[in-house]
Amino acid sequence: MKFVDKVFDDTLMSFLQAMDPEKAHDLSVKTLSRGMGPTLPPPDDPTLGVTVWGKRFNNPLGLAAGFDKNALVPDACMRMGFGHVEVGGITPRPQEGNDPPRLFRLTEDGAVINRMGLNNEGMVVAYQRLAKRNRWEDRGFVGVNLARNADTPNERAADDYATLAALLHAQCDFMVLNLSSPNTDDLRALQEPEAMRAIIRRVRAATPTDAPPLLLKMSPDLTEAQMDDLAAVALEPENPLDGIICANTTTTRPEGLKNPARDEDGGLSGTPIKALSLARLRSMADRLFGKVPLVSVGGVDCAADVIERLRAGASLVQLYTALIYGGYRLVPQIKADLLEAMKEQGIGSMEEIIGADMKVSA
Ligand SMILES: Cc1cc2nc3c(=O)[nH]c(=O)nc-3n(C[C@H](O)[C@H](O)[C@H](O)COP(=O)(O)O)c2cc1C
Repeated sequence: MKFVDKVFDDTLMSFLQAMDPEKAHDLSVKTLSRGMGPTLPPPDDPTLGVTVWGKRFNNPLGLAAGFDKNALVPDACMRMGFGHVEVGGITPRPQEGNDPPRLFRLTEDGAVINRMGLNNEGMVVAYQRLAKRNRWEDRGFVGVNLARNADTPNERAADDYATLAALLHAQCDFMVLNLSSPNTDDLRALQEPEAMRAIIRRVRAATPTDAPPLLLKMSPDLTEAQMDDLAAVALEPENPLDGIICANTTTTRPEGLKNPARDEDGGLSGTPIKALSLARLRSMADRLFGKVPLVSVGGVDCAADVIERLRAGASLVQLYTALIYGGYRLVPQIKADLLEAMKEQGIGSMEEIIGADMKVSA
């Protein structure tokens, strides 16, 4: 990292940490949208690359949904060093989300609780921004995180997802059905098999056969039986899924959280969900590894986590909360540490360790 970037990063981070969390987020996005952010990093070492859905990702690390909710700064986020960026959640119509305060830093825990409620400017604004981009695939891929509006009842949710996919599929590299945000009433009930089937069927019907890969983002709070259902649906030939993102924030609260904000309603993310997220990845890999690509997200904040998730069966790994605490230098640091770890552990490429733990136990 260049000296000037480091000074900028340090100053910005201490300033942002002292601010109200939502205002700090909005300011980060605004500074990025004005071109004040990381400069274009050097190309990634080719050994960091992974191929998924026939696409060559420069590195396995992506920015999870929720940071760039309105597709304002995907390319600026890519310059932080990510191989892909998931924008959204985007709903068909704009919506305000829940009343503030709705975002809480649990600094001592390396965690965040949010009950944003999918605040966003709606799909037309996102479409216009994405359509204006110069899509250079060698710079990284952009996914869109899609969700129903808060006032659309679950019986009509498939209409929302189909409308979103019909408009946005040509402007992205993958689409994500968000059926797992905990802050929209009843949204997570859409992970019931018949609801999932209806949504996938309608989205497939609304998009051409060469539309980008269709993924589903699951909750980490699913039971074993619900994970069985999800895996079964993902494999059904009539409505197959191209990938599963594992997982969203949790409404559970692990023991030992120190910050009093632990009692706020909403979804918990960051370090305290590391173990939960990894456990869910392992459960889904037991069911789907080698059949449906898995993307792991939840508590990832270092190279060892990335290696662990890939070995457990993830093809790609995402993070968000770690960026709130680590700033713009986090991703370059993780990538440098990955290269170092690869040398030490005799790993030739990121790709070769995907599912290594599965193969050992198989
Ligand atoms: C403030 C905030 C907003 C989020 N918004 C979304 C969203 O709109 N859609 C979604 O699928 N996940 C959303 N997430 C969940 C993240 O994408 C991710 O799944 C979760 O935070 C776990 O990863 P992490 O521990 O690296 O943050 C949000 C998370 C946070 C902290």
